[in-house]
Amino acid sequence: MRLTDEEKRILNGERGEIAQRCMKFLVEYGEAAGAEYLVDIDGTVDMHPGANWVPAYSVSREEVAALAARGERFKVPTFSDKATAPGFIVDGWETCGVHPSCEPAFHQKCLDDLKPYIEMGMIPTFSCTHYLVSSFWPAPGTHSAWVESSAIPWVNAVLGSRSNFDGCFQTAYLGKVPAYDMHLTENRAATVLVRCETELKRDMDYDLFGWAVGERLGLKVPALVGIGRPTTAQLVKMNSSLNTGGQVRMYHIPGITPEAPTLEAAFQGKKPREVISITRDDLRRVYDMMNYGSRDDVDFVHLGCPHYTIQEVRKVAELLDGKKCSVRLWVMTSPQVYSLAEAAGYRKKIEAAGGMLLSGACAGLLKGNTMPPANKPSVIATDSAKQDYYITGHCYPEKVQVRYGTMEDCIEAAVTGRWKGEWR
Ligand code: F3S
Repeated sequence: MRLTDEEKRILNGERGEIAQRCMKFLVEYGEAAGAEYLVDIDGTVDMHPGANWVPAYSVSREEVAALAARGERFKVPTFSDKATAPGFIVDGWETCGVHPSCEPAFHQKCLDDLKPYIEMGMIPTFSCTHYLVSSFWPAPGTHSAWVESSAIPWVNAVLGSRSNFDGCFQTAYLGKVPAYDMHLTENRAATVLVRCETELKRDMDYDLFGWAVGERLGLKVPALVGIGRPTTAQLVKMNSSLNTGGQVRMYHIPGITPEAPTLEAAFQGKKPREVISITRDDLRRVYDMMNYGSRDDVDFVHLGCPHYTIQEVRKVAELLDGKKCSVRLWVMTSPQVYSLAEAAGYRKKIEAAGGMLLSGACAGLLKGNTMPPANKPSVIATDSAKQDYYITGHCYPEKVQVRYGTMEDCIEAAVTGRWKGEWR
């Protein structure tokens, strides 16, 4: 890899051993990925604080605290996607019934662990949809380093900033990232034309469409036509499925994606290498695959993967109006949307119906061994293909069944305790 003089000095240890370790990490992983140089981040970083991908280059919490104490700061605007521990819930932790999340000592330790990162400048958004609430969007054409399945297509395809899946302490601390894949203009061109031959209306349709495309394309970059004008919540769902059912981290919607004012621009003037169609049957097939439970006696309903927008929280409150839940209902959102829901009275409405609005965490919390025996779910309902895909692994070794459908289907299950969702 070609390095600048400044980068060579960091690699030689002139900025201290931690900066040297971070630079070694970027150089080695960049070389493994085929990068020829590092690029300065002029967008933003989104990281999981405390996550260390390669132990040899990890930076401990104590080392971060030492850096913070001597006044060191992240080089670029940095947001936290998660806390340092997976069980941390920002709002609603006291009554969630999951251990150790509901224990005051655990909660306080998580807050303490985060302090040095926040001192270094990390903005604690604690949401996989941080891009909806951070109020700092990187401009088109800038270089960023983000993580999270729905966020990567968002930064590339919706905002037009350039990112691979590499937001971490090292990229934020040095403000640099290896230049490969999505950082290079030629790799961002669409190669596959995807025609949607069915009308996408419901939020669930976008979830299923994203999965069907992701499954077919893997890492390829599609141009999507015929998908209508998705709402913000529908785009979030589609992104999450594109990058979970497959690894679609960049796509083009002509007229929406900054790099694609036209279909021709999406392909950078070249011809599509492939043309595929997605039909109603494709959506139905994914729906059936997601809906793999055979039991109808739902005992847990999980909504908010990715974290719900305020419009979705409002819709839950409206659907629950005048009703009572007979089984547990969790509605997950970001701490910022939680505040809005509080101010607008939606939290009270959800709680009056017996549901719970929580913020800042993920259903990874549902690990079988964290639930008291009486609370362990066995039949879970969700409106998220991504959650559906991960939840059996999260719950292992408990064996759970999953029912998948619309938000309305899930709310009905929360009220009646029965799954009545069907393909419509
Ligand atoms: Fe967010 Fe967790 Fe779903 S990180 S996208 S709520 S699996």
